[in-house]
Amino acid sequence: MFQAAYLPENYFSQHDVEDIFGNGETCEIDLGCGDGGFLLQMARQYPDTKFLGIERLLGRVRSVCSNAETERLENVRVLRLESRYFLEWFIRPGSISRLHYLCPDPWPKTRHHKNRLVQDHFLPVLHRALAPQGEFLFKTDHEEYYEWVLEHMNNSPLFRKLTWEENEFYYPKTDFQLHWESMGKHIHRARFAKTEHTAQA
Ligand SMILES: C[S@@+](CC[C@H](N)C(=O)[O-])C[C@H]1O[C@@H](n2cnc3c(N)ncnc32)[C@H](O)[C@@H]1O
Repeated sequence: MFQAAYLPENYFSQHDVEDIFGNGETCEIDLGCGDGGFLLQMARQYPDTKFLGIERLLGRVRSVCSNAETERLENVRVLRLESRYFLEWFIRPGSISRLHYLCPDPWPKTRHHKNRLVQDHFLPVLHRALAPQGEFLFKTDHEEYYEWVLEHMNNSPLFRKLTWEENEFYYPKTDFQLHWESMGKHIHRARFAKTEHTAQA
């Protein structure tokens, strides 16, 4: 039986998609995949696409791996690592075809805004990690974090906003989205593509 957990020999070297999956040049990332509801549904729907979940909590990593292995979803891997480190240092630049960043903690207090992943200095990191025409897809129930992300992304020449109508393409709801919607909350979504602009180092 295949092992869904990816256990790198070396956390300090850059990794190709081939190192992680055994072949291939690009993959899709579910950043902070939680219990993996979205990741597993995407992997079932697109068996020829590689899906890598990044998650820091061991219990969640184990649960996603166990479900992927039981179903033999061989296009799934899960890596226990911190999101920003993964994007900045771990994955080879240009390896990510789509980055899904779904229902993250919005860090609502002003003094905690520095903990938000999306910041000016994060945009070149994201741009470098994405493949040409690679996409960044974001969802949140938190209106202020949604506006924050729109403002950062729209003000950057590194990205352009794409349309994302309901049912424009297959896109299952995450576990947190289902939870927030059951409480009557609205989920905002935004989709961006990497431009050919060169990021300054
Ligand atoms: C609010 S949950 C959302 C889970 C899933 N995306 C969903 O929508 O159901 C956020 C997840 O991201 C993980 N997480 C938060 N910060 C992280 C980080 N810096 N690196 C890796 N995982 C992180 C948390 O452990 C948690 O499982």
